[in-house]
Amino acid sequence: MKNNLQKAARLSVAPMMDWTDRHCRFLHRLLSREVLLYTEMVTSPALVRGGALHLLAHSPEEHPVALQLGGSDPTELAEAARLGAAAGYEEINLNIGCPSDRVQSGTFGAVLMKQPELVADCVKAMQDAIGAEVTVKCRIGVDEQEPEQVLPAFIETVSASGCRRFSIHARKAWLQGLSPKENRDIPPLDYPLVLRMKATFPHLHLSVNGGIETLQQALNFLEAGMDGVMIGRAAYHQPADILCDADPRVFGVGQASDPVEAARAMLPYIEAHLSSGGKLAQVTRHMLGLFAGRPGARQWRRILSEGAHKPSAGPALVEQALAHILQAV
Ligand SMILES: Cc1cc2nc3c(=O)[nH]c(=O)nc-3n(C[C@H](O)[C@H](O)[C@H](O)COP(=O)(O)O)c2cc1C
Repeated sequence: MKNNLQKAARLSVAPMMDWTDRHCRFLHRLLSREVLLYTEMVTSPALVRGGALHLLAHSPEEHPVALQLGGSDPTELAEAARLGAAAGYEEINLNIGCPSDRVQSGTFGAVLMKQPELVADCVKAMQDAIGAEVTVKCRIGVDEQEPEQVLPAFIETVSASGCRRFSIHARKAWLQGLSPKENRDIPPLDYPLVLRMKATFPHLHLSVNGGIETLQQALNFLEAGMDGVMIGRAAYHQPADILCDADPRVFGVGQASDPVEAARAMLPYIEAHLSSGGKLAQVTRHMLGLFAGRPGARQWRRILSEGAHKPSAGPALVEQALAHILQAV
């Protein structure tokens, strides 16, 4: 299982709150059979104290899929990891990258870059609790920390607890003064530092994350020696550009997928979602970028975003929007 996950992690879609929910992941999986998908972050207090097990719901088709947890209490994280593994997630990822206020107040996310021993304890407790692999997503440092020193020390300490796979967002987080959104854009990217980590820790599986906008850029990082590449915003906004060619080009298997076929394959999924009481827009909001940059994309986006909230809206709206794409080619 771990080998398969390591392979899938050559390319992954990053965890993104409010974006990589189960509907988004279902769509992404139609575009690539092979990439590793991540959930939105789920906090361990929400699962363990709040009993919010509905946050773990997902479709079997999404696999391979990793659950991302946020937390800093080893016992609670172990229990949350156990719940995640029992729900079928094959990897549990710990978030050491999120700079938001809400997360800081609970002492988790990027602020834990300052407490590698605690992170190691968390990882160890999670690993002892489950058979599934435990991985970490981190930054290169926070605030006034010196990434050149802090990042290797962090990886050294945390990997000593048994974590073998890290995704590194190649920029610092500033815990005061920058919003979470600014923290994804303003601190400069330091890819050379991340590449040096691969040389320092050749036995670990390291993925680079942050600012990667094309599949070609991802391939360049793999060629430069990284084990994996994690893509967030570009995969969300232009899923076809990143994912349609991923299987043949990154994994050397299968064929390029077709976004029109993916849109059609969403129809029965949408039917099922609606008949279980869901709303069309909950699914179609993740499909708006499916044809980004292609003829007909504007009408596709407009029809879905204007129509999907109407109470009578159903799969026919998606077919109507798709007709514009098919006419345009
Ligand atoms: C809307 C949004 C929500 C995010 N939520 C999370 C999250 O829940 N957990 C996490 O580790 N990172 C989160 N991130 C950060 C991404 O995983 C990623 O590290 C970041 O966007 C940089 O990669 P990119 O430049 O490819 O987007 C989020 C990013 C965005 C845009």
